[in-house]
Amino acid sequence: MRRTLLIALAALLLAAGPTLAQSPGGAGLGDSYYPTLGNGGYDVQHYDLNVLYDFDVRLLMGTATIEAVATQDLSAFNLDFRRLTINQIRVNGAIAAYEHRGTELTVIPAQPIPAGATFTTVVLYEGIPGMGSTQMTELGWTHHENGVFVAGEPAGASSWYPVNEHPLDKATYTIRVTAPAQYVVAANGLLKETIDRGAMRTFVWETDYPTASYLVTVGIGDFVIEEQEGPNGLPIRNYFPPDLAEAAAYDFGRTPQMIALFSSLFGPYPFEAYGVVVADAPIPFALETQTLSLFGRRHVDGERGEEITVAHELAHQWFGDSVSLADWSDIWLNEGFAEYASYLWYEYLESREALDEVLHHFYNRLAESILPPPGSPPPDDLFNISVYVRGAMTLHALRARLGDEVFFRVLQTYYDRFKYSNATTGDFIAVAEEISGQQLDAFFDAWLYRLPLPPIPELGWEPLPPPTPAPTRTPPPTAAPSGG
Ligand code: TRP
Ligand code: ZN
Repeated sequence: MRRTLLIALAALLLAAGPTLAQSPGGAGLGDSYYPTLGNGGYDVQHYDLNVLYDFDVRLLMGTATIEAVATQDLSAFNLDFRRLTINQIRVNGAIAAYEHRGTELTVIPAQPIPAGATFTTVVLYEGIPGMGSTQMTELGWTHHENGVFVAGEPAGASSWYPVNEHPLDKATYTIRVTAPAQYVVAANGLLKETIDRGAMRTFVWETDYPTASYLVTVGIGDFVIEEQEGPNGLPIRNYFPPDLAEAAAYDFGRTPQMIALFSSLFGPYPFEAYGVVVADAPIPFALETQTLSLFGRRHVDGERGEEITVAHELAHQWFGDSVSLADWSDIWLNEGFAEYASYLWYEYLESREALDEVLHHFYNRLAESILPPPGSPPPDDLFNISVYVRGAMTLHALRARLGDEVFFRVLQTYYDRFKYSNATTGDFIAVAEEISGQQLDAFFDAWLYRLPLPPIPELGWEPLPPPTPAPTRTPPPTAAPSGG
C-alpha cells in the first residue's frame, strides 16, 4: 500500500514539472453561444463573497473567497471578471500573479495545482460596478435611485465578483453584504446573521444548494419584509418597497398555492426557501434568481395583473435553476418550460377548456408570425418571444400527443433525473421517448428547429392556409384582411 503510494507519488512528481508548467485551464467551457463564459480546469464548490457597499460613491469593496477542485493540473486558471480594480490575489495563502484582459482574469498561482486538489483563491478588489454594459444580458450589480438590484442573464455576475460564469459550474454561496444601516439586504438562501456596526450593518446570507452565477442576487433597499409559509413549512420571505407592500402582498399572495401545484406536477420544491424581491425601480423584466425571484415596480398593481409572470419566475426554480442548461442554445428548456408552467397555473385556476381557448389564440398568432423556431434561437436575440411561447406550445403539443398521464410522467422523470444538475434538449427528448415508448425525433425537430409551425392534430389545430390572393380587377372596397 505505502509502497504503491510512494511509487505513484514519485511518478507524479516526475511528471509534474513539465506537465504542470504548461497546463493552464481553458478560458471557456465550450458553450456554443458564449465560448468565453465560464472557464475550464476546475470546479468551484463554494463562493464566500464579502462586500462592503458605499452608497454615496457607489463603490463596492469586495473579498471573494473561492473554494474549488482542480479537474486537471493547473499552472494557471481563469475567472470571469469585469473591470473592477484588483488589489491582491492569493491562492492557498500565497500571493499569485494575474493578468486581467477584457473579462478574462488569468490567475497564475505561485505553486501549480495538481489535478484533484482542493484550492482556495482569495481576490481582493474594489470598484464601481455597472459602469460597463447596460445590456440586460450583462447588467449585473445595478444601483438605482432607491437601492441596488442584481440581475443579468447570462452574464451579470462578473460585474461584481470574480466567477466561473456558466451554469455548468454551479456552487453554494455565502453572501455577506455591509451597507448603510438604514437599508435592508436580501440575497439567496437563508439569512444567517445580521451584525450591527453603528452606521453600517452586515447581512450574512447562505445557500446550501448549487446555484448558477446568473441566479445569484442581492437586493439592497428600504424594504418591508413579508413572510409566508409554503408546503411542508417552506419559508417564504418577500421584500417589498414600503409604499407597495399592501398591493404586493395581494399580488404575490398565492405563492404557497403555486408552490403546491408545481410540486405536485413536477416534484418537490428544490430549495431551502422562496420569496421575491421587488426592486423600487421601473425594471421591465423579472428574473428567476434562485430562492428569491426579482421583480420591479411594474409587476405590482394590486390586481394580480402580472400573476402569470409571478408563476413563471416561480416555475423557473424547477426548470432553469434546479435543472439548468448545459449550453445557452437550449434556452427554451428554461423559458418554454417556465412559460408552460405559468399556463398550467392558469389551467388550475380556470379549466383545461379555458387554457385551450387561450392557447389556440396564441397558436394562430404564432402561425401568422415569422418568428424563428424556439430551439437554438438567434444568439443575439436569445430571449425572443418564440422561445417562450412556441417553446411552451411545443410542450402543449407533446401533452396532446402523449396524453396527460404520460406527459406529466415525462416532466417528473426529467425533473427528477436532472435536478441540481444540467440537461440538454437531447436529454429531454430521450426521457420523453423512454417514458412514452414513442419515436419523437421528428416531432421535436419540427417543433424546435423548423419552420413552419407544425399542426397539433389531436386538438385539430393547424396553421390557417395563406389567404387567397385578392382578385386583381375587382377589389372589394372595404374588405378587412382579417376579423382580428
Ligand atoms: N429569464 C428572464 C425571464 O424569466 C428573462 C431575462 C433574460 C432577464 N435575460 C435577463 C431578466 C436579464 C433580467 C435580466 O423571463
Ligand atoms: Zn423566464
